[in-house]
Amino acid sequence: MNIKTISESQEIIQDNLDYTIFSWSKQKGIAPIAVKYAEGIYLYDYDGKRYIDFSSGLMNVNIGHGNQRVTEAVVKQMQEVSYVSPSCVTKVRGELGKKLAEICPGDLKKAFFTLCGASSVDNGIKLARLYTGRHKILTRYQSYHGASIGSVSAGGDPRKIPVDAQQAPNFVHFDLPYLYRWEYGEENLLKEAVASLERVIAYEGPGNIAAILLEGESGSSGCLKYPVGYLKKVREICNKHGILLIMDEVMSGFGRTGKWFGFEHHDILPDMIVMAKGLTAGYLPFGCLMVSDKIIAKYDDAMLPLGLTYSAHPVTCAAALEVLKIYEDNNLIENAAAMGKYLDTQIEKLKQKHPSIGDWRNTGLLGCIELVKNKTAKEPMAPFNAKPNEMAVMNKVAAKIKELGMYTFVRWSYLFIAPPLCVTKEQIDEGLAIISEAISIADKETEHG
Ligand SMILES: Cc1ncc(COP(=O)(O)O)c(C=O)c1O
Repeated sequence: MNIKTISESQEIIQDNLDYTIFSWSKQKGIAPIAVKYAEGIYLYDYDGKRYIDFSSGLMNVNIGHGNQRVTEAVVKQMQEVSYVSPSCVTKVRGELGKKLAEICPGDLKKAFFTLCGASSVDNGIKLARLYTGRHKILTRYQSYHGASIGSVSAGGDPRKIPVDAQQAPNFVHFDLPYLYRWEYGEENLLKEAVASLERVIAYEGPGNIAAILLEGESGSSGCLKYPVGYLKKVREICNKHGILLIMDEVMSGFGRTGKWFGFEHHDILPDMIVMAKGLTAGYLPFGCLMVSDKIIAKYDDAMLPLGLTYSAHPVTCAAALEVLKIYEDNNLIENAAAMGKYLDTQIEKLKQKHPSIGDWRNTGLLGCIELVKNKTAKEPMAPFNAKPNEMAVMNKVAAKIKELGMYTFVRWSYLFIAPPLCVTKEQIDEGLAIISEAISIADKETEHG
């Protein structure tokens, strides 16, 4: 008798492949990691293989995996009450609002709780239009703001191109080049970036523009840093024209960049902050739109036309409140800043060793290596919005990373490094050793290979 046994892990993967749908991916011929459990900065599969998580899941598990304080807070809340309608209140909702008001600067004191990043962006856009009575939203081409119809239209990321025909109206994008691929000097970059934004505003009619929406620090577009002084100029331009400034801190918030929020590196104050990911460190899906007192005051005596069945869900509020305490109790934000500096010095050494490392852009622990075929000509290892056949080398690099026991995010010629904020120097060394070995594959494709 020929009995074919399949391992537990194969069975789990097969069920997932047969009965579930994978986002941003082809559906067949993929080999996902079946995660059994996770602890700190490591994932473990059913065969006992360990993976160092160098992208904190999707840059959200900032406190690290498996923190039982969050589990206990969630269980305790569920034992008391799991759901109340958003018109009722709970202790935890008020406490979380108060804590966020403490963390956020200026008059950003009122929290509208949502479900995820996209629903926070959507509500921010709605509120900006309601408040200003204007309809247009300006965003950077090189940005991602979510996948709902509203937020996907807001982002300029090419993930929107296949659904182009479904775009919502009244989003206008502008280009903001980055230093590594700008030939005319840093000072000139700032000048041109500001001038081109001003031109777009003039063409579109400043009186029609409700808000400029920008990531606090660029994330999945490749950590493309703002020119120094740029966000201050944007704030001035917004003030001049009565345009609101919304900072999307979904990826860059909650210590990821070594400060609570990415925009705090730029000495500005937005009118609204969009939050998700690190708010609960991914332990439960949640989001928040933090709104300035000035904006929300408009609704002191008028109905606010925003709502969600699961707004201020007590269980997600409990997870978030505990996660915020963990950031503070474990000094995670200070650690992110310190480990970010260490990472910078170590990558500098790798740059000397690897002809394929073109650029390294990082703030705290939100970093990205850009791989090139030639350091002088800067030809990317894979082009912007690379087609599958243009990803041959990068796919080999990604496969090697996985084989060597690392999980991280590889996109086009970008290799992201964004470990949980509890990472240690030793763990950074461990991860970089894997990356160094994997990148050797790309080195062979360079002129020195
Ligand atoms: C900057 C930014 N905004 C918004 C989102 C969308 O968040 P979500 O996937 O929770 O809707 C993301 C997701 O990666 C993001 O990086």
